[in-house]
Amino acid sequence: MKKLLVTGGAGFIGGNFVYYMLENYPDIQLVCLDALTYAGNLETLKGAFKNPNFKFVKGDITDRKLVFELFEEEDFDCIVNFAAESHVDRSIEAPEVFLKTNILGTQVLLDACNKFGTERFHQVSTDEVYGDLPLDRPDLMFTEETPIHTSSPYSASKASADLLALAYNRTFGTPVTISRCSNNYGPYQFPEKLIPLMIANATHGKPLPVYGEGLNVRDWLYVEDHCRAIALIIEKGKIGEVYNIGGHNEKANIEVVKTIISVLGKDESLITYVKDRPGHDRRYAIDPAKIHAELGWLPQTKFDDGIERTIKWYMDNTSWWENIFNGKYKSYTAEMFE
Ligand code: NAD
Ligand code: TYD
Repeated sequence: MKKLLVTGGAGFIGGNFVYYMLENYPDIQLVCLDALTYAGNLETLKGAFKNPNFKFVKGDITDRKLVFELFEEEDFDCIVNFAAESHVDRSIEAPEVFLKTNILGTQVLLDACNKFGTERFHQVSTDEVYGDLPLDRPDLMFTEETPIHTSSPYSASKASADLLALAYNRTFGTPVTISRCSNNYGPYQFPEKLIPLMIANATHGKPLPVYGEGLNVRDWLYVEDHCRAIALIIEKGKIGEVYNIGGHNEKANIEVVKTIISVLGKDESLITYVKDRPGHDRRYAIDPAKIHAELGWLPQTKFDDGIERTIKWYMDNTSWWENIFNGKYKSYTAEMFE
């Protein structure tokens, strides 16, 4: 693998993956294609721009002409597709762009792989394609065989993209792999998601909005563990296979919020129970036995360490997220492209 296209690299996981690859694969040439939607932030990639092996292209994965020209120019060995609309609450408010980017954008990339004979297309997917699990059955976990059963327009669009990728593999022989990961946390996560939003609000003494009773359970994985799993899959994973990635780190939302309050030395009176999300998935839990057995992957970061590191990162980098709240991160993008 010499030349890699990372789509959505100005976002949370894609940005962390860019740094992971540049650090661990010093010979790799890495091109990031990102449309810089509200979730894309060039400040995230500041450090990567200094690396001669890194190149950034602003563009939309649904733009077939742009994507095909880029493939022709760069002759990629491998594509890792992170580009997506990723926030469930936004998908409930306005589903259309989720279908466009997450499904049609994936199709454009798959078509480009077919046309240019790319050796690997890796689709970054989510455990949300499996729907949810009951709270009173801790014995149940998602395996790769669990039926697709989606709850939100976001998860339905991600499941559609997965099915399309598998269909391209079967019909056209497109060399596809898919990973389905549980909730990630770590540096550079956009502060609309639970953990960074709670850190930001708690820092400013603002209310911490907990949906419903805060009893929904997520299986948290430190983002670097996810990046390492994807690197392993593109190196050693079997074409046509799906790999679940998860950390055996199940926590109720209220527990996560209370941990953040405690690490920051704030008061639990900040917790404000608000109206629940419609269709709110109760519990996600990944069984990562396959990726462990086949590729030797195991999570390395325990939640207690990962959450402390994450909170420290947000405290050390307040301007990164303050610039999102005050809108300045968009003027940084504008300066780069004027
Ligand atoms: P994010 O919202 O932080 O970043 C998405 C990035 O994609 C942004 O930089 C955005 O500008 C870019 N983008 C959006 N539409 C685009 C388009 N049409 N063309 C090009 N670029 C576009 O998302 P994230 O949390 O980093 O998630 C990355 C991927 O991982 C997504 O596919 C998501 O479904 C998946 N995933 C996320 C999690 C999680 O916990 N965050 C868990 C499992 C899987
Ligand atoms: P989120 O970070 O949006 O990820 P996802 O919906 O993909 O799991 O939310 C994580 C959990 O936290 C989810 O159960 C919804 C809940 N949540 C809140 O209680 N309050 C909030 O303000 C947000 C953003 C999420």
